[in-house]
Amino acid sequence: MKTFSKPHVAVVGATGAVGTTMLSILEERDFPIASLRLMASERSAGRIVETKWGPIVIEDLATADPSGIDIALFSAGGARSKQYAPKFADAGVAVIDNSSAFRMDDDVPLVVAGVNDAAITSHKGIVANPNCTTMALLMAAGPLHDAAGLKSMIATSYQSVSGSGKTGMDELERQTEFFAEDLSALASGDWEDPGGDLYQRPIAFNVLPLAGSITDQGYTDEEWKLVNETRKILDRQDIAVEPTCVRVPVMVGHGIAASMWFDDPVSADVATEILASAPGVQVWDDSKVPTPIDSAGIDDVLVGRVRETIGFRGGISLFASGDNLRKGAALNAIELAELLLER
Ligand code: A2P
Repeated sequence: MKTFSKPHVAVVGATGAVGTTMLSILEERDFPIASLRLMASERSAGRIVETKWGPIVIEDLATADPSGIDIALFSAGGARSKQYAPKFADAGVAVIDNSSAFRMDDDVPLVVAGVNDAAITSHKGIVANPNCTTMALLMAAGPLHDAAGLKSMIATSYQSVSGSGKTGMDELERQTEFFAEDLSALASGDWEDPGGDLYQRPIAFNVLPLAGSITDQGYTDEEWKLVNETRKILDRQDIAVEPTCVRVPVMVGHGIAASMWFDDPVSADVATEILASAPGVQVWDDSKVPTPIDSAGIDDVLVGRVRETIGFRGGISLFASGDNLRKGAALNAIELAELLLER
């Protein structure tokens, strides 16, 4: 595996919700950078972005030459990753890809920093950043799995609109303003459809029990990611995961309610102790309930409502909440870049 001390870095998708967060986290963490390049679509090419490393002109990804780049952080959508990440990797770039394009490929490690760091050493040019919901959940499930062996889990997500990118945030803002004109209509049922490009039903003042697109057996691609990525990250194919992914009118911050069962059952007190000493996790007790907006803008994943299951006994139920743009995407990508630097 190639290592670097002060790399030449590129952010691909630099104008997007995750890309701009990547830029601010690189600045905040004083990431050692020899040079920084920013890439997006031809629509943004030529625009100048002011950064800690000076003004940088956005390049068109389609025509950008990857030579000389050491690490590229990709977050420009799966189609762009599929098309350009292999080209970058062939040019000797270590690609950290935030899309789902390569996550399940056997020769691509899928890494939650702080949970399965060692997996990164096997990369052959591309490292995948897990899905934002899986990431927040595994920050809690990972340490518990290490201690007790996770065997099954029921997980329901409450995913913010920024998971759909900037367009999701714009749609929520517009629909919220539309409904705010006559809030009583939402109670009487006389509301008019605010229209929207992204979601099947209005997202403002509502919840959508279908996040992503339906694929196999009536489950969405987001739900399958929770199943498959959990198994790959925890390196245990027989973990049973029962997922439901819900979109909620939150700008930033994904919440996940999960019940988990283990080979060696743990008490709520022990689970709380394990979580409290896990890196990147803050345990909040019931006097301070962790919600998605509490997690927006911070690095740690918040975990609360830790309790022993009462229906199917012997398990632990909890609620985890994480900033989907930070730990769920940009921060983890940069932590992976830091792992490449360290190793
Ligand atoms: P652009 O702003 O030029 O469209 P988000 O997920 O927040 O919508 O952001 C998507 C990111 O992916 C943006 O930076 C966007 O750039 C970039 N992107 C979208 N389409 C392309 C493309 N065809 N080529 C390169 N970058 C793209």
